[in-house]
Amino acid sequence: MANRKKPEELRSHRWYGVKDLRSFGHRSRTAQMGYHKSDYAGKPVIAIINTWSDINPCHTHFKQRVEEVKRGIWQAGGFPVEMPAISLSEPFQKPTTMLYRNLLAMETEELLRSYPADGCVLMGGCDKTTPALLMGAFSMNLPSIFVPAGPMLRGDFRGEFLGSGSDTWKYWAELRAGNITEADWQGVEDGIARSPGHCMTMGTASTMTSAAEVIGLTLPGASSIPAADSRHAQMATLTGKRIVDMVWEDLKPLDFINANSFDNAVRTVLALGGSTNSLVHLVAMAKRAGVHLSIDRFDSLARTTPVIANLRPSGKYLMEDFYYAGGLRGLLSNIKDLLKLDELCVNGKTLGENLEDAKVFNTDVIRTQNRALQKNDGLAVLRGNLAPDGAIIKPAAMEAHLRKHTGPAVVFKDYNDLNTRIDSESLDIHKDSVIVLQSAGPQGAPGMPEWGQLPIPQKLLKQGVRDMVRISDARMSGTSYGACVLHVTPESHVGGPLALVQDGDLISLDVENRTINLLISDNEMMNRKAAWVAPVAKFTRGYGTLYLKHIQQADKGCDFDFLEPEEKLEPKGDPEIH
Ligand code: FES
Repeated sequence: MANRKKPEELRSHRWYGVKDLRSFGHRSRTAQMGYHKSDYAGKPVIAIINTWSDINPCHTHFKQRVEEVKRGIWQAGGFPVEMPAISLSEPFQKPTTMLYRNLLAMETEELLRSYPADGCVLMGGCDKTTPALLMGAFSMNLPSIFVPAGPMLRGDFRGEFLGSGSDTWKYWAELRAGNITEADWQGVEDGIARSPGHCMTMGTASTMTSAAEVIGLTLPGASSIPAADSRHAQMATLTGKRIVDMVWEDLKPLDFINANSFDNAVRTVLALGGSTNSLVHLVAMAKRAGVHLSIDRFDSLARTTPVIANLRPSGKYLMEDFYYAGGLRGLLSNIKDLLKLDELCVNGKTLGENLEDAKVFNTDVIRTQNRALQKNDGLAVLRGNLAPDGAIIKPAAMEAHLRKHTGPAVVFKDYNDLNTRIDSESLDIHKDSVIVLQSAGPQGAPGMPEWGQLPIPQKLLKQGVRDMVRISDARMSGTSYGACVLHVTPESHVGGPLALVQDGDLISLDVENRTINLLISDNEMMNRKAAWVAPVAKFTRGYGTLYLKHIQQADKGCDFDFLEPEEKLEPKGDPEIH
C-alpha cells in the first residue's frame, strides 16, 4: 500500500531502533523480560490499556480477553504490551466513578505518551471506562481501537429475566412496599448478575459502547456481543490483528472522527433509549476530538429520532436478546436514513459499508421506525429559571401523566438529609409533590453521583405510587427510570437556582415545551441569591483539590478545563528520549 509507514517511521523506533546508549537500555530491559530482538524489532508496539481489576465484576474476563487480543497482535506482526490502568468499578468505587473518569482519561493519555506505543487497544466497558479511555486516546491521537467488554448474560430469578439496575430498583421498591419477602430479595441478589460483562440493560455501559461503535472505534458489531459468548473472544483477536494494520496505515481517531460521527452517536443513543449519562460523556469526548457538541444538539436530534430498541429500562428486553435480534448493526440498519453513512470506521470502511448485510432477526426487540416504542424524545433537554444552562430528562422511562406537572417542592439539602428523612412518617409529602435534592452535582457531591433517581417515600409506595417528579443536579444510572430531572446546571453548590428552592415552592415541569421553572418572582429569586452562602469545599488536599479547581459543569461535559484542546491538533508533547 502506497502510504504504509516504514519501520523506521514508527514512534517506537526512537526507543528501540536507534543506536545509542538509551536504546541499548530499552533493548536490554526488553530482553530481561524474555523477549528476543526478533519479537519486536521493526514491529509496531501496541499498548493494550487494560482496565481489568479484581474488584471490577464487569471486566473479570479481561484477564483472558487480553491474551486473545495479544494473540491477534502477534499474528499480525505486532508487539503487544499490556498496560493496566485504573479500573473504575461502578458498583464499588465511592463516592462515584465519575470523580475519577478524568483521572483514567489522563492516565490513558500519559501512558500512551510516555511509553513507546505506536498504537493502542483500549479495553473497557463498565460505565466511565469507555468515555475515559476514548477521551485519553483522542487527546494523544495514536491509532486506536476499542474492545468493548460486552454485556453480561440475562439475570435469572425463578425463570424470570432480571435486568441490571432496573430490576434492582423495581424489587427494592416492592420489598419496601412489603410486597415481596426477604427470601425473594435474596433470590434476586443471587441471580441478577451471573456472568462476566457489563450491565445488560440499556444502561450507561451499553449506551457508551454502542456510541463508540457507531463513531467507528470498534470492529463492526463488537459492542453487542455478550461477554461470555465465544464470539466475544474471536472479536478480541480480530481487534488485535486490526490495530497492527492501523499503525502501518497511520489511521488515527482524529483522521476520521468529526461532527457527523457525533451526530451518528447521538442518533444511536436516542434510538436505543440510551442513558442520560451519554450527554455528559459525548460532550466531553467530542471536545477532546475538537468537535463542538452542545446539549441542545441532543434535544434537536431527539425530536426526529424514534426509540426503536425495546430494551430495559425503557422497554422489555435485555442486551442478550438484542444481540440475538441483530445487535447494534441491526438497529442501525433500521435508522439508516437518519445517519451519515459516509463516515469512516477503524476497519477502513464507511459506516454504510459496514451495514450492508446487517439484518434484524426479531422485530419485537428491534423495531422498525413505524412500530417505534416512542416516536421521538428518547431524551429531552429542559431549560428555565431553575436550570438556565440546562437539565435533562428521559421521557421514554417516566410515567406519561407527569410530563406536564406542577407541584410543591420538598427539599433535601444533601444526600444524607434525603436518606435521614425520606421515609419519615411525619414528612409532609404527597404524590403530587416535587422531590428536590441539592448538593449532588460535580462539585457539590462531589463527583455528580448517580443519586438522581430519588427514592419514593415508603408511605407513598404503600399507597401504590411508583413515580413522582424528582429534581437534582446529580446524574442517574442509565438502568434507572422515572420522572427524574437531572444534571440541573449550574449546580446548587456553585449557587445555581436549585440552591434557592425552599419547601412549598411550586415547581413546574413541561417536557413537551422543554421547561423547568421555579414559580417565584424574579425579585424573590434575587433576594434569596443575595442571602445565599457558598458552602465550604469538600476537599482540601490531594486529587480532590485538583478536581474541584478544574471540573466543569455538566453542560460542558465535566472535563477538566486544562485537558481540552485549543484546536484540532496532531499529537504533540512526545517526550524526548534520553
Ligand atoms: Fe459495570 Fe454497570 S456496574 S456496567
